[in-house]
Amino acid sequence: MDTTISATTHKSPLAVLFVFTLVFSTSMTPAQSQFCSDRPGGCCPGRDDACTVPRGDTLCYCDEFCLRSKDPDCCPDVFNNCTALPVTVAPLSPNPLKSDCLYKGKHYFAGDSIKINCNTCTCLLDVGGYELQCEDKVCLIREEIINAVNSDSNGWLARNYTFLWGLTLEEGVRRRLGTLKPAPFVAGMKEIAIEQMEDLPESFDSRQKWPGWIEDVMDQGNCGSSWAVSTTSVASDRLAIQSMGNMKLPLSAQNLLSCNTRRQRGCDGGHLDRAWYYVRKYGVVTDKCYPYKSGMDESSKMERYPCMLPRHQSTPCPHNDTTSGKYHSSPPYRISEKESDIKAEIFKNGPVQATFLVKDDFYSYAGGVYKYTREAVKGASKGKLRSGYHSVRIIGWGVDRTNPSSSLPYWICANSWGTQWGENGLFRIIRGQNECGIESFIVGVWGDIDMEMMRH
Ligand SMILES: *[C@@H]1O[C@H](CO)[C@@H](O)[C@H](O)[C@H]1NC(C)=O
Ligand SMILES: *[C@@H]1O[C@H](CO)[C@@H](O)[C@H](O)[C@H]1NC(C)=O
Ligand SMILES: *[C@@H]1O[C@H](CO)[C@@H](O)[C@H](O)[C@H]1NC(C)=O
Repeated sequence: MDTTISATTHKSPLAVLFVFTLVFSTSMTPAQSQFCSDRPGGCCPGRDDACTVPRGDTLCYCDEFCLRSKDPDCCPDVFNNCTALPVTVAPLSPNPLKSDCLYKGKHYFAGDSIKINCNTCTCLLDVGGYELQCEDKVCLIREEIINAVNSDSNGWLARNYTFLWGLTLEEGVRRRLGTLKPAPFVAGMKEIAIEQMEDLPESFDSRQKWPGWIEDVMDQGNCGSSWAVSTTSVASDRLAIQSMGNMKLPLSAQNLLSCNTRRQRGCDGGHLDRAWYYVRKYGVVTDKCYPYKSGMDESSKMERYPCMLPRHQSTPCPHNDTTSGKYHSSPPYRISEKESDIKAEIFKNGPVQATFLVKDDFYSYAGGVYKYTREAVKGASKGKLRSGYHSVRIIGWGVDRTNPSSSLPYWICANSWGTQWGENGLFRIIRGQNECGIESFIVGVWGDIDMEMMRH
């Protein structure tokens, strides 16, 4: 306070005054609103139509012209604060002082906020004038990653997705993945011996071997439910294959997500061993009977839908007036990391469940054979990497020979981010190198799935 007063009485250069005002304005009593005296650069000589400060949702003027014209558009403090004109202002920065914020050709005024990708930016007064000041969160879709991936031949291409744009990386990890760390589960699960198969084809797609029996790509929405979605999808595929297509009944991921709540976290993720235990012990109904709806609209983002089918009770389908059988699976089993074992299992019994670590660049995958691009991500991450586990179905394999000098073996995987993502909802990932752990946690289930009719 003292400093402000002495600066005022000595009529120091305005630049100095301004710095004091900035530093001490918070401790000053808000007795009267200041306009020109708060303006970086203060008042301006002559007629200067750019010499303004925000006043409510409009502007008022602080140039010398105001002293003569008594224009109603002049700021109320112009007479008290601008009489010592002309004043020459020593610029504080090499840039001319700005009285508003400019972003992509649009002007924003003091206090205005806009969202740029996942960050909120506000036009605020800074030493050099008004500047857009933005939050510093790491966004899920980053232009730097897209450009870095696409500018090199990485074997795959990246793109922007409207439905992922605006989310933070943190939200993506929490709301687009959803499998809790698999280590304890896998450790406790017995691996089965796979009968070696001699002549596995070079490429294989479950959808061609079992047309119409493999479940479509799902959309988990803004809900970390891959633990439930991948479990019911693999169970559905195996059920259809084992029954020779007689039981082509997509099973309800919502049933599992909403009802398997014990030590599971719903849309914040779940454990696969508990999911499989639930399907085995209590069974799930069909998707038609209990359709998926979590994470589908803004308002329900955080909502955990309560279970509509209590475990031991016979209840009609939540979706319609009929009833549905509950389908139980047999215990799941683990397949070794060996590429030939995984292939043999898919070839004989159908799609498997795979859990892998999703890295920052995966969200923008648009097509090709995915492989983590460490350099692209490092350059765009300010050191804030964050990965999470995600479960998907591997439905086949193949070899990409687009580039004749390096052929790329891959797995074909079905993701659960809708068909707009990736290659119609699928992605291919490099095979045989345990990329992102994709070969580490492979789970299958026998197709001898029992059905128990519900009594009512
Ligand atoms: C601006 O004018 C007000 C009175 O309207 C006065 O109290 C204040 O000290 C002046 N500020 C400057 C920087 O001259
Ligand atoms: C990504 O898509 C969103 C929504 O369509 C758009 O607003 C944004 O400008 C795009 N970003 C880039 C980097 O292309
Ligand atoms: C209701 O659910 C049953 C059992 O899954 C299904 O067969 C039937 O088609 C469903 N009806 C409608 C209108 O969705």
